Amino acid sequence: MKRILTGIQPTGTLHLGNYFGAMRPAIALQEEGEAFYFIADYHALTSVQDPARLREYNLGVALDFLACGLDPARASFFLQSDVPQVTELAWILTTVTPMGLLERAHSYKDKLAHGLPASAGLFTYPVLMAADILLYDSDVVPVGKDQKQHLEITRDLAVKFNETFGETFKLPQPRIQETTATVPGLDGQKMSKSYGNTIEIFADEKTMRKKIMSLVTDSTPVEAPKDPEGSNIVALYRLVASPEDVATMEREYRAGGVGYGDFKKRLFGAVWEFFAPMRQRREEILAEKGYVDDILAHGARQARASANHVMQRVRKAVGLREQP
Ligand code: TYM
Repeated sequence: MKRILTGIQPTGTLHLGNYFGAMRPAIALQEEGEAFYFIADYHALTSVQDPARLREYNLGVALDFLACGLDPARASFFLQSDVPQVTELAWILTTVTPMGLLERAHSYKDKLAHGLPASAGLFTYPVLMAADILLYDSDVVPVGKDQKQHLEITRDLAVKFNETFGETFKLPQPRIQETTATVPGLDGQKMSKSYGNTIEIFADEKTMRKKIMSLVTDSTPVEAPKDPEGSNIVALYRLVASPEDVATMEREYRAGGVGYGDFKKRLFGAVWEFFAPMRQRREEILAEKGYVDDILAHGARQARASANHVMQRVRKAVGLREQP
């Protein structure tokens, strides 16, 4: 059976980029195989250094992912740090990781450019991610486009390891959905917490409306025709509205006579409605005390069993003693 795996960092509340880039594809894939979905809290330590906040984000992301449709009966859902074997594998992988490979990583360079201090953890981040993926013999990894290079690094490390120590790891395939590979944020750049341009899925009505009304547009006057291609309003609307409603908006863009403010209001309405059932589900889950903790505990047990199995193989391959 195909093994599907993905992770999300608990560095804040989840946004439309997370949802359309990774969560929705992952939720669709849970029907097709054995799914392992986790909250990457070890990774989050490279940017969140406040224990209360980390705990809050962990719980929030778990709640949000479940509300969006992760089905704990089909997918094992767990906290990365509940399977500490992953750090052992990450260490072993660092010993076959060429420095140059990490020096070329976009996300590291990008984070430095955005002012994150350069810790060794940030630098070796892709190795921990490779360990996440290889530890579970993953076949398919649904992610947004920004993770493409990390998947390439994972495959490179698996090949390098296999060449050095004999066939041990499967080579995972990224699954990047063309239409949602990069969801734009309020300013048209990739939607990202570190750019401060996100629309949170479960923001309250007033906050979400305010955010969407603050979307950056050009200064084309109301009467003038506008180009729907390259408009971040239209790009976001395509994610949440029906094809007919999208066609209407595109037509009105081209015809002129409607201002960006009106289009933004329509976008807000569609986003709000799209997530209504998930908001409802979230309330239900919140009311069920202990539900999220139980799911994570159960998921962790399943993940640990699978991880132990692969780690025995790895320890044997490199010449470490197999654990009793
Ligand atoms: P993270 O937490 O930044 O994002 C989680 C997922 O959301 C996707 N995503 C987007 N997709 C499209 N458009 C956007 N604007 C957008 N913003 C975020 C990301 O591509 C990602 O799929 N390193 C990972 C977490 C991770 C992981 C793993 C993923 C750790 N180990 C193993 C897969 C497998 C990260 O920081 O994602």
